[in-house]
Amino acid sequence: MTDRPTNRLTDRFTRYPLDKVHRLFEPGPVVLVSTSDGRHANLMTNGFNMPVRHSSTIALVVGPWDDTFTALRDTGECVVGIPGRELLEKVVDIGNVSGADVDKWERYGLTPAPGEAVRAPLVAECFANVECTVADDRLVDDHDLWLLRIEQAWIDPAAPAGAEIHHRGDGTFSANGELIDLRARMTKWEALTRD
Ligand SMILES: Cc1cc2nc3c(=O)[nH]c(=O)nc-3n(C[C@H](O)[C@H](O)[C@H](O)COP(=O)(O)O)c2cc1C
Repeated sequence: MTDRPTNRLTDRFTRYPLDKVHRLFEPGPVVLVSTSDGRHANLMTNGFNMPVRHSSTIALVVGPWDDTFTALRDTGECVVGIPGRELLEKVVDIGNVSGADVDKWERYGLTPAPGEAVRAPLVAECFANVECTVADDRLVDDHDLWLLRIEQAWIDPAAPAGAEIHHRGDGTFSANGELIDLRARMTKWEALTRD
């Protein structure tokens, strides 16, 4: 391959608006971020998130427009709950109101459960919960990006694999469809394919 391919693909591709590029990357799970400052426990909806390092680090965008931002900054910890399809309408509603105005746990009938490593509660209705502490906040001022250390994680073993829901970035969501099992091809990464 030469450095600069000469064939043009403009008959197949059109320009994609830069402000929509996030939709191409979006389909991480839509999650609930649980925080508690000791007096007030809150929940927010988060769609911009990613794994960063196996076993230890995830990243979330939580901006100063969220009440959760203050709790995360002040306490340095949170729980990330992963909801299944049955919670999706509530998850969207939770992302449309501020914990400064309402008790979202009460309004949406969600049950706080004690974790082991952090004070923020797990969300009992989520099929998985990840207890986190802030590992690095150096990108927060410029990018609202929090690097979180995974301290403890919980899963309901009865939940079907791939139960998470994906936000497509525009208010539409997708559930996982057909499971494509390519574990046998992951020759270099065989360790990742074990249970
Ligand atoms: C589907 C969806 C995804 C969202 N993703 C994010 C996100 O990734 N980061 C963020 O800061 N806010 C996100 N929001 C907005 C917050 O959930 C919203 O500002 C919420 O009211 C914050 O709650 P709080 O003020 O109680 O913390 C999202 C909202 C929805 C509905």
